[in-house]
Amino acid sequence: MNDIVFQRCINPTCGATVDLADTLFSCPRCGSLLDVAYDWNRVPVPKSLKWFETKWSERTHPLHFSGVWRFYELLPFAPTDKIMTIGEGQTILQRSDSVGKYAGLNAGRLFLQYEGMNPSGSFKDNGMTAAFTHAQMVGARRAACASTGNTSASLAIFCAATNLMRAIIFIGSGKIAYGKLAQALDHGALTIQIAGDFDDALHRVQQVAKKLGIYLVNSVNPFRLEGQKTIMFRILEAMRWEVPDWIVVPGGNLGNVSSFGKAFSELLELGLIPRAPRLAVINASGANTFYQLYEKQGLRWNGGHLDAEKINAYYRGLDAGNLRASTLASAIEINRPVNLPKGLRAIEKCGGVTREVTDQEMLDAKAKVGAGGLGCEPASAASVAGVKKLRAEGIIDADERVVCVLTGHQLKDPDATVAYHSSDPEMFEKVLGKRGVKRASYANRAVQVPNDLDEIVKAIDLYA
Ligand code: F0G
Repeated sequence: MNDIVFQRCINPTCGATVDLADTLFSCPRCGSLLDVAYDWNRVPVPKSLKWFETKWSERTHPLHFSGVWRFYELLPFAPTDKIMTIGEGQTILQRSDSVGKYAGLNAGRLFLQYEGMNPSGSFKDNGMTAAFTHAQMVGARRAACASTGNTSASLAIFCAATNLMRAIIFIGSGKIAYGKLAQALDHGALTIQIAGDFDDALHRVQQVAKKLGIYLVNSVNPFRLEGQKTIMFRILEAMRWEVPDWIVVPGGNLGNVSSFGKAFSELLELGLIPRAPRLAVINASGANTFYQLYEKQGLRWNGGHLDAEKINAYYRGLDAGNLRASTLASAIEINRPVNLPKGLRAIEKCGGVTREVTDQEMLDAKAKVGAGGLGCEPASAASVAGVKKLRAEGIIDADERVVCVLTGHQLKDPDATVAYHSSDPEMFEKVLGKRGVKRASYANRAVQVPNDLDEIVKAIDLYA
């Protein structure tokens, strides 16, 4: 076995190591999740993060152009000739004073990390390029995922752009925004709609992948999380290598928070940052397992000694009450986050917190993000709604530097946006009202005018 790069069980009392080429993505000894692990003493690592700036001058080199692979030295699991990139990670960190003001922060303190700029329109491409690379290393020909829409769009685009694998995606019926479904279909993925939700689909795809030897790209795959670490590296890069006070991210399957925690742990271990930022994970209140278990029931990573009975009892309670995840933010409509232990580990490492926000809070925050210049999908706005809540509670200080990760593009889910801004009460009710959304306080309604020049001029004079 390669003893420089390998997979390792996250359970410290087990700590089993697994070959780099293994694709089962769970510990063969105890069944826990795996990390990609490196013997950092034996891989060359730059002495300072500033060193990565040398790559900026070589943007014709595909691995330096990629916003993931220009940080190769911090995720060096693959031979460079196996790396599959489609130009992912060309994202921006935008200072947004108007959104910051809405959330209660002082000017110059809120930044939006816009992952909607990726080729498939979400942060998933950061992880997919890494998983796809690993799939190439092990010679996979078919790849599968369960998805609320963005992982599937990302897998589909990588398969279509490289023509190296066939994409097989599992989605819950009626559980995916049209923009995302459109991507899977357009890019030629085999799309399997099962009668159930994401939690059901994830359970099934894991069985199917094992049975048919299909490569699994859900975030239980630790190589996905290696790629997603680079979202944090790009934030540091955009902040001139200064560490912000807070990173705030929506929580669904908890892949992001897990990978962010790993990124900061490794940067600390390598002496590349002086301190880690605090992490805040924001659940939708209709899909709030992490919030319930962490904040309400006191579940902790506890050095790897998790209270498994607490988790099992919680899931038994969901089953007994037939409680299904339910939120307008379909991207994070997940009740059984597969990365729960890694998420707990990350917030322990980074002094994290979790909160829940309602669909109403998310949609209002989303409207503010849009009015501030960047569009995002409902789930992404959970981050901004979460900052507003944490500010109101006094947990985030008005002068702290806060980065919200906008995980997905505005056009992924236009239905929610149009319904929010619509002046048609029927449409509002059909899409939002039945979900408990009562108001559209920041709506920008279309103005209805007769097809008449004078009337049009009058309307413009009145409103603009
Ligand atoms: N935001 C968006 C836009 C997402 O698509 C997802 C997850 C999340 C946040 C949550 O991220 O799982 O890392 O906590 N979407 C997955 C999918 C589940 O299938 O596309 P997480």
